[in-house]
Amino acid sequence: MSNAGKRYVQVGLGGRHSMFRNAIFNDYREQAELVALCDHNPGRVAHAQKQTEDDFQCRLPGYDAADFDRMIAEVKPDCVIVTTMDSTHHQYLCRAMELGCDTITEKPMTTDEDKCRQILETQARTGRKCTVTFNYRYAPPRTQIKDLLMSGVIGNVLSVDFHWMLNLHHGADYFRRWHRNKRNSGGLMVHKATHHFDLVNWWLGTVPERVYASGHRRFYTPQTAERYGLTSRAERCYQCPEAGGCRFHLDLAAAESMRHLYLECEKHDGYFRDRCVFSKDIDIEDSMNVVVDYRGGAKLTYSLNAFCAWEGYIVTFNGTAGRLEHKCQESVYINADGSVPGMLNKEGTWTRVFPNWRPAYEVELWTGSGGHGGADPVMLDYIFAPERQSADPYLRAADQRAGAWSILTGIAANHAMRRRQPVVIDELLPGVEPPDYPAMPVASQPLTMPPA
Ligand SMILES: NC(=O)c1ccc[n+]([C@@H]2O[C@H](COP(=O)([O-])OP(=O)(O)OC[C@H]3O[C@@H](n4cnc5c(N)ncnc54)[C@H](O)[C@@H]3O)[C@@H](O)[C@H]2O)c1
Repeated sequence: MSNAGKRYVQVGLGGRHSMFRNAIFNDYREQAELVALCDHNPGRVAHAQKQTEDDFQCRLPGYDAADFDRMIAEVKPDCVIVTTMDSTHHQYLCRAMELGCDTITEKPMTTDEDKCRQILETQARTGRKCTVTFNYRYAPPRTQIKDLLMSGVIGNVLSVDFHWMLNLHHGADYFRRWHRNKRNSGGLMVHKATHHFDLVNWWLGTVPERVYASGHRRFYTPQTAERYGLTSRAERCYQCPEAGGCRFHLDLAAAESMRHLYLECEKHDGYFRDRCVFSKDIDIEDSMNVVVDYRGGAKLTYSLNAFCAWEGYIVTFNGTAGRLEHKCQESVYINADGSVPGMLNKEGTWTRVFPNWRPAYEVELWTGSGGHGGADPVMLDYIFAPERQSADPYLRAADQRAGAWSILTGIAANHAMRRRQPVVIDELLPGVEPPDYPAMPVASQPLTMPPA
């Protein structure tokens, strides 16, 4: 049993639940206590209760989502951890803050500008904390990029090219699950790119102003399935006649974690986690291109493709004193299949600096271990044991302001794709306060030029 640290409850007991639960029971017993579990699927409540009992000999009370207020009244948590489907985060964040609790939410903070406004207004009115878990900032090679940019090694960044590749394994998974519909996830522009746009905001220490976007879905379509000869496919993988010949087939019954979490819980809410990736009911893009103008003048060119041959990204920064290139290749995984997500492939990951008029060099990479390239353990330490940490020079802990700015680019991109016009963020949601960022190299500093 945990001792009496800060009291937490968690709402949303799917794939992302166990990272928080295991951290509290294994590593933060002195600082934190998990006191209740909540979900709208009674099967997943029972499963999480059983796991907690088996693994940690602790029987936690379980609550249906409809009894959220009663849970708060009965177990009196200090903080609510929200790991539900993206479009529902705001309900629990706002209600928890109204009831006097601090909150921690998984990214994306929410999926559209109205829900975002609701969260910002509730936080301002109640004064409660709203922490957004941007684990990507904490991955050692990505923190290192921040360190290099802060050091001024390439001067002031004027433009960024950022290209993110989801491979056929991980990328396809978004087209099977609830993420496949914009009403649930905001599409990959919000659900996935919130990580990437947050990184750019934080790396540059600024916020976006105007967004141009274009996107389409041309790979995860019935036409592609036909081209592969998958003509007798079912609406889901389970018992699909094409199972034997389809590289996208997901066998929910085969992986124990997925069987318990999803297959055995379908009877309660009718949610299928293995819907056909080529279904006509999908309404998110699989290929997106975005240009962003930032406050202060920097520009970003960004792309996200969900059907690539390898997983990872390439980001390059062009500055007044040089260029920085970073490539990161990640391991393959499927959410909640028991593997560690987003591990770096070290051979495929490097950072190079090209100073103006001087030889280029490769920097020795900062590394770590654990989920999302070593990011998850560092982030959990900042969340659950901040007193153990020295002051963070990179200001990685993110609140609702960073949560909002990270999704506003994607939300604006969704509008821009629909309207076929650029979208000004201040017109979408006026007056959002910028986050606190560390000081960056000053733009008015004199530049040096070696003799010709
Ligand atoms: N930071 C990361 O790298 C990362 C990785 C994976 C997931 N996530 C985020 O974590 C969250 C959960 O994702 P997941 O992969 O665990 O999804 P999941 O589908 O496995 O689990 C979602 C859970 O929320 C529950 N739920 C859905 N709607 C609800 C509602 N209205 N009320 C109560 N419960 C509800 C479902 O029953 C399910 O148990 C999402 O916001 C996702 O974006 C973040």
